[in-house]
Amino acid sequence: MQHKKGFIFDLDGVIVDTAKYHFLAWQKLAAGIGISFTEKENEQLKGVSRVRSLEKILEWGNTTLSEERFQELMDSKNTDYLSHIDTMSETEILPDVERVLRFLEDNEQPMALGSASKNARTILQKVKLIHRFQTIVDGTDVSKAKPNPEVFLKAAERLDIAPMDCIVFEDSVAGIEAANTAGMVSIGIGDPSVLNTADHVFSDFTQMNNEFLNKLIQQ
Ligand code: BG6
Ligand code: MG
Repeated sequence: MQHKKGFIFDLDGVIVDTAKYHFLAWQKLAAGIGISFTEKENEQLKGVSRVRSLEKILEWGNTTLSEERFQELMDSKNTDYLSHIDTMSETEILPDVERVLRFLEDNEQPMALGSASKNARTILQKVKLIHRFQTIVDGTDVSKAKPNPEVFLKAAERLDIAPMDCIVFEDSVAGIEAANTAGMVSIGIGDPSVLNTADHVFSDFTQMNNEFLNKLIQQ
């Protein structure tokens, strides 16, 4: 009998290298209001919603803003971010993502996208991967941001697979925490010293062979 697992992919920093565009856009915006932050601090913004990201930046700069100004800055960050997205194509799919998707498809494994981004569908369309997922849960579908597990639990529900039979691929600390809280297998894509609470960590998909994927399906 073929085992069915639910494979849930984060988008930014896992499927496409958009994490760098989020960083650029937030850094530029923060500089405009006199706040600077490093790549290390930026790890805390990964996986986190747009609202929560701006709240954190303002906390770092000990700054408070009116609600109106806050909204203006969020919109302006997104406009800047979307100018990077506009030029994207399939060439920005991260290495070996397509091999992993193909292997899971060949093995008839259900797949979902689980992202905090409200731009997820736009990006998936740009890189022509939108039809590869059975379901897409994004920032427009959830009310609680990662590290809350809502996004992954919703993906599992839509795939009709129990959370304990789901596997999450994530590049953010918040996302790994969300997967762990959901009782899923968490697989970090990135630096093991940053993603140290994940069940497994790979620097990228080129390091994850089909044998490992097969074990995830069978276990
Ligand atoms: C996550 C990113 O995928 O989406 C975060 O890792 C980002 O950096 C969040 O803040 C929300 O994205 P968006 O595109 O709705 O601003
Ligand atoms: Mg991510």
